[in-house]
Amino acid sequence: MQNKVYIETYGCQMNVADSEVAAAILTDNGFTICKDITEADIIFLNTCSIRENAEKRIWGRFKSIRYLKKKKPDLLTGLIGCMAQRLKEKILETDQFIDIIAGPDSYRHLPSLIEEASSGHKAVNVILSREETYSDILPLRLDNNSVTAFVSIMRGCNNMCTYCVVPYVRGVERSRNPDSVLGEISDLSEKGYKEVTLLGQNVNSYKWTEGNNIINFAQLLERTALENPSMRFRFSTSHPKDISDDLLRAIARHDNICKHIHLPAQSGSNRILKLMNRGYTREAYMERISAIRSIIPDCSLSSDIITGFCTENDEDHQDTLALMEWAEFDFSYMFRYSERPGTKAIRKLKDDITEDIKTKRLNEIINLQNKLSVKSKRKDIGRVFEVLSEGFSKRSEDFLFGRTSQNKVVIFPKGNLKKGDFVKIRVKNCTSATLIGEII
Ligand code: SAH
Ligand code: SF4
Ligand code: F3S
Repeated sequence: MQNKVYIETYGCQMNVADSEVAAAILTDNGFTICKDITEADIIFLNTCSIRENAEKRIWGRFKSIRYLKKKKPDLLTGLIGCMAQRLKEKILETDQFIDIIAGPDSYRHLPSLIEEASSGHKAVNVILSREETYSDILPLRLDNNSVTAFVSIMRGCNNMCTYCVVPYVRGVERSRNPDSVLGEISDLSEKGYKEVTLLGQNVNSYKWTEGNNIINFAQLLERTALENPSMRFRFSTSHPKDISDDLLRAIARHDNICKHIHLPAQSGSNRILKLMNRGYTREAYMERISAIRSIIPDCSLSSDIITGFCTENDEDHQDTLALMEWAEFDFSYMFRYSERPGTKAIRKLKDDITEDIKTKRLNEIINLQNKLSVKSKRKDIGRVFEVLSEGFSKRSEDFLFGRTSQNKVVIFPKGNLKKGDFVKIRVKNCTSATLIGEII
């Protein structure tokens, strides 16, 4: 029986969590997960469609896998996840080396899809569900650190930002039963994990109804923190239009909820925000940041920025730079706009900013963020932080690395510590990428 499966993950943290769900479903059905691709009988790429480049990279990788298949004709290959969902059966017309296609809501069918493919048929399932949250599946952890883990609390997205493919490939938003979220976390706690990141495309719209009782995200997060005092918690992503003071107060109340909020602005121009259908203005965004600063004074902030969206002019671009400077983001993920098939932007708006201008603006944005990131790290010199040690530093086994509550990476001498320990560190210095500290 062909039963060794290798899973390679692309895209966001939700895909990392999904690969662990897929791995659990497969092992429950007699398959084993292997870490060496050359040993595999079945290779799955868990794919991402968010930007054109993400898909190009996956195609590039797939070409080298085809080569493996030439050497081992029985090898089965599958694309799962968002790109599989977007391209559906169409991929099979253009690429005869793919045996299995499964979208993000089809992982329960992986065993039967493998069986179908083993008998020589192409196997496809890309049906999106309104209910699937895999809430009864205990993910099989594929990470190597056993200290930090992702837990998915909802799936899909209802926001329909005009540039974004996610609502089309992940389907409608649905929240996961809080008891199953808490059950998964207590299992992680028993296994020695120390940090969990709760995941959703817009965690602020988490909502679970049971009779007359409604549990929102602030309540879920607070319950999680209270029930697991020896672990700490992060969450991603917060949508600026939905982040409530209730949530901010819950974060402020609990030491084991990390003081970091990822709050993607996307643009600093009201005109562009409207074209993106983001549902907030620059002023509303700034008001939320002021609320964060006043309710959680030591909170760090990060953002996503898209540059060169349809019709963006120099004034819009300057608005984005000015917003970044005002908000003093501690770090940001910055992207050139890339048209995605099926989205409202590709249907109704023109991608009229040249690649040269997109690149020039992106460089300006990156340069500014680099300046802000250095400023944010320098500010920490001399201060003391509780750091969760995650493992050896890449540079040397005499050093460990970990993160502050604010999600900044710190490197420090190992001492008698091991990964998974919480430790108080005084920051002595910094490079452009990390803080350097000593144990106190
Ligand atoms: N749900 C999250 C984002 C998920 S996608 C949120 O709303 O913030 C991660 C990031 O990819 C987005 O925040 C956006 O900055 C970027 N992105 C999404 N679609 C894109 C596109 N078509 N071109 C360039 N960047 C894009
Ligand atoms: Fe995409 Fe917007 Fe949903 Fe984020 S909130 S996943 S950017 S549609
Ligand atoms: Fe994530 Fe990419 Fe899908 S960002 S939700 S894996 S399109």
